[in-house]
Amino acid sequence: MLKQLDEILTSVAAAIAASDSLADLDSVEINVVGRKQGRLTAILKTLGGLSIEEKKIVGPRAQKVKIEIEILIAARRAELEAVSGAGLIDISEPVLPKQNYGALHPISIVREDLEKFFRSKGFLVLDGPELESEFYNFEVLNIPADHPARDMQDTFYIKDHPSLVMRTHTSGMQVRALETYGAPLAAVVPGRCFRNEATDVRHEHTFYQFEGFVVGERVTLGDLKGVLEACATHLYGPSTRVRLRPKFYPFVEPGVNGEVTCSMCGGAGCTLCKGTGWLEIFGCGMIHPEVLRAAKLDPEKVSGFAFGLGLTRIAMLKFGVGDVREFNAGDLNFLQQTIW
Ligand code: PHE
Repeated sequence: MLKQLDEILTSVAAAIAASDSLADLDSVEINVVGRKQGRLTAILKTLGGLSIEEKKIVGPRAQKVKIEIEILIAARRAELEAVSGAGLIDISEPVLPKQNYGALHPISIVREDLEKFFRSKGFLVLDGPELESEFYNFEVLNIPADHPARDMQDTFYIKDHPSLVMRTHTSGMQVRALETYGAPLAAVVPGRCFRNEATDVRHEHTFYQFEGFVVGERVTLGDLKGVLEACATHLYGPSTRVRLRPKFYPFVEPGVNGEVTCSMCGGAGCTLCKGTGWLEIFGCGMIHPEVLRAAKLDPEKVSGFAFGLGLTRIAMLKFGVGDVREFNAGDLNFLQQTIW
C-alpha cells in the first residue's frame, strides 16, 4: 500500500505539473481526491479495515500524501489563474512557507511502544542518570575495577571526576531502583547509554537500551522466559518463539542470551539472522545474589530476573535501518522520512 501511495504521489505530481488549464487541473483533482472517484480517496476509505499495526504505518503516510497533493494543486491553480487572469492576485499576500511536518524519532516510537506494553503489565517506567557513578554502573553489578568486563564496556570518563562515567548500560538502575522502592518491584528503564566504540554501521558511541527487572519472592527463570515471550510476540507477532542460551554477564547468574525467531524469515534462515533463524535480542538472567545484597536485599528471601534489550537495535530491525549512526546524525533527510 505504501508503494501504491508513492506511485500515486509521483504520477499525480507529474499530472499536476503537466496540466495547462484550470479545467485540466480540476479533473486531475477529482481523479485523485474527488469524493466519489478519487484514487487516493478510495485508499483512505480502506484504512478502517487495516490492522492497528498497519494503520499506524499507512495512515500517517496516506494523510501526508493527501496534504502534499493538495498543496501542489493549490500552487498550480494559483499559477494557472495568474496566467489566465482568472483569479485576482493579491500581491500583498505572504508566500506560504514550505510545509515541514514534525515526527517522532524512530527510537522514541519504539521506546513509547515498549513503555506502554510494560506499563500495561504492571511495570513502573523509571528514568536514570546518564552520567553515572562508577559505583552504580560497575561495582554494584559485580564488575570491580580489575574485571575484564570493564574492557568490553569502555566508556567516557569525566575529567577531574574519576568516579563518574557516562553509563555503559541501564543495568545500574537495578540497584538504584531497588534501593528506592525495595522489593517486590517490577520496573523498566529506557535510556541512552554510551561506550567508547570505533564506530561503524553496527557500533555507535551513543545508543539506547531498555532494561527490565522483576524482584520478589520466588521469581524464577521461567517467569523471565514468560515475560520475554510476551514482549517478543508483542514486537514480532504471535508465532514468534524465544529461546534462552547461556551467556556470561557478571551481574546475573545464570546469565542467558534471549533469542527470538527471526522477524524477517520466521526462523527459516536468511541474511538478517545470518542463516541461524534466530536474532539475539535480550541480554538477561537471574539477578546475582551479590547485586541483591548491594541493594540491601536478602538473596535467601527474594530473587529476581533482569533483561536488557537494545532499543537502537529493535528500531533498526523494525524500520530496516542499515547504519546505526543514522539515528544520531541529525540528518533531516533521514528523520523526515515518512516510513516510521
Ligand atoms: N547490561 C547488559 C548489556 O549492556 C545487558 C543485560 C541486562 C544483561 C540485564 C543481563 C541482564 O549488555
